Amino acid sequence: MIFEDFSKIGIIPVVVLDDSQQAAPLAEVLCKNGLPCAEVTFRTSAAEESIRIMSREFPDMLVGAGTVLTIEQADRAINAGAKFIVSPGLNPKVVQHCLDNSVPVTPGTQTPSEMERALELGLKVVKFFPAEPAGGLNMIKAVAAAYVDLKFMPTGGISAKNVKEYLAYNKIIACGGSWMVKKDLVNAGEWDKIAALVREAADIVKDVRG
Ligand code: 3PG
Repeated sequence: MIFEDFSKIGIIPVVVLDDSQQAAPLAEVLCKNGLPCAEVTFRTSAAEESIRIMSREFPDMLVGAGTVLTIEQADRAINAGAKFIVSPGLNPKVVQHCLDNSVPVTPGTQTPSEMERALELGLKVVKFFPAEPAGGLNMIKAVAAAYVDLKFMPTGGISAKNVKEYLAYNKIIACGGSWMVKKDLVNAGEWDKIAALVREAADIVKDVRG
């Protein structure tokens, strides 16, 4: 079950790749340093090929697609090997398409109405986006009191400084974040710096969740 894997990994690196040649070295750094997972965002034309490369060369890695806004993008991601789909908002058509194809999907939500829509579609886990500007952990705790069966994947504005508090709350499956895989570091090929940030993030997960 993919959400159990999310829970074990604890932090989902959100990556924006300008060049699919960055996919394999980045995947290697993530796998070797304790976060064997990536949400590859469909914000660049390299996303689809990057997912294909990561899935093929690192079959044990949990590779998914982010910023999926259309059914067409979802299909391209799934065909390339994406094991999960994430989007910034809740598009019922995209969600239903993923469910029809048995692909786990985590749409972004921010308001109670959006969360109820997700529940109505049969989801048990939603992304909470953008987490910090939308009220952070306090907001999640407030809505979680009402939606007792719903779990959250907060993303947006999370970093090594505040991720601990999020991870400590039992309604949070995992946190998404880009701080350990920043685009400028990836583009500069700063793999050692990325490795250190990934290790730091993985150590925080271990610290909080054992
Ligand atoms: C994003 O949309 O880029 C993700 O939510 C990551 O947000 P972050 O860059 O604040 O970690």
